[in-house]
Amino acid sequence: MDIKTLRSVTGGVTTIDPGYKNTGSCESAITFLDGEKGILRYRGYSIEELAEKADFLEVAFLLIFGELPNKAQLDKFHDDIKKNSIVDEDVHKILDAFPKSAHPMGVLSSLTSALTAFNPSCVNVDSEEDMYQSVVRLLGKFPVLVAWTMRKKSGLPLDYGDKNLGYVENILKMMFKEPNEEYTQSKILVNALDKLLILHADHEQNCSTSTVRIVGSSHAGLFASISAGISALWGPLHGGANQAVLEMLEGIKADGGDTKKYMAKAKDKEDPFRLMGFGHRVYKNFDPRAKIIKVAADEVLGDLGVEDPILDIAKGLEKEALEDPYFVDRKLYPNVDFYSGIIYRGMGIPTDMFTVMFALGRLPGWIAQWREMRLKKEPIGRPRQLYVGETLRGFKPLEER
Ligand code: ACO
Repeated sequence: MDIKTLRSVTGGVTTIDPGYKNTGSCESAITFLDGEKGILRYRGYSIEELAEKADFLEVAFLLIFGELPNKAQLDKFHDDIKKNSIVDEDVHKILDAFPKSAHPMGVLSSLTSALTAFNPSCVNVDSEEDMYQSVVRLLGKFPVLVAWTMRKKSGLPLDYGDKNLGYVENILKMMFKEPNEEYTQSKILVNALDKLLILHADHEQNCSTSTVRIVGSSHAGLFASISAGISALWGPLHGGANQAVLEMLEGIKADGGDTKKYMAKAKDKEDPFRLMGFGHRVYKNFDPRAKIIKVAADEVLGDLGVEDPILDIAKGLEKEALEDPYFVDRKLYPNVDFYSGIIYRGMGIPTDMFTVMFALGRLPGWIAQWREMRLKKEPIGRPRQLYVGETLRGFKPLEER
């Protein structure tokens, strides 16, 4: 079909915009991002202020419902989440069926999708109350699935932690508590995780969030939409970059720590190697989250008494890139994933769980975007294409081909 015919079919102009680099898919009142100035705000509040003063559950409430909660609203929200945190026994069996070698993102995506089967009332959500019930169920059960995915890999029995703890404190307990052992969450770890989760909580129409909105636009339920978002996040060009960064830094260290060699590889167009954790589709001067995380990496590793040579390699690469015309001309700066893996590693979280931690942080943003899309009764997402294949041809029977 030529462009003229395509226009007559679409009733106007069809723009071809691979990667949607210039296409807005919706109007949204959740997250403001100015890539030139390096500004990120959730519902009008700067990311710097939220990371310093708020906790993750307050930010989740803010993103989903539009305002910071007062004490009574926050307590009710947390209570409703806690009441809904029990995961069906049969979901344990599904988890058991996965090989220990399975990537945690695949496991998490499957378990999240499976939740639909055990919570059928969460599929057809027409009222705000129905939506609320889906939201608190997911916020209750998702950290349990995250923690259990990690425990299965570490060979630990499943655990619900302690519901009397704060949301983030309990996530750490569910992840790390050894059997028959008192586990007290270190304040340093709680603060660090709170900050990391807040910094990842939303980022407007990125690949995984657009996926959540487009799947949700068919009125598939919340859990199915989030499961699709997890799969989108898994890729190394998106959330999977935090795992890829650490593997890259480990590789450079094992290869003698020669950062210049890897800078040269990243610039060589014949070499598929890219400097993971560098570059961003929207930020063209700096990623404000990376600035906060870089400082946090120093603080957290210092507080925990961890000396990690990987941090020095990362800083070395950043310094070289900031002075290198290839990176400067293309406006390639460290993104949120460049330092986050180093902090997760300092916290004792295995490398293949890093992207799962990203999903845990991004969950409120995905939920907020799904809820906004449903409340605004947005139409089903359905991009057009420009067909460039064969014109009409006759069918040849098998024996003639
Ligand atoms: N290392 C080396 N060169 C790079 C890198 C990099 N990390 N990123 C971009 N470039 C180069 C490209 O080769 C291209 O060069 P050219 O103009 O000479 O052809 C130019 O910079 C523009 O890059 P694009 O790939 O066109 O930029 P795009 O906006 O499509 O991609 C992306 C952005 C995917 C983030 C890219 O920079 C990248 O692959 N980075 C590494 C992976 C990563 O860190 N992903 C996490 C992103 S943040 C997040 O999802 C949470």
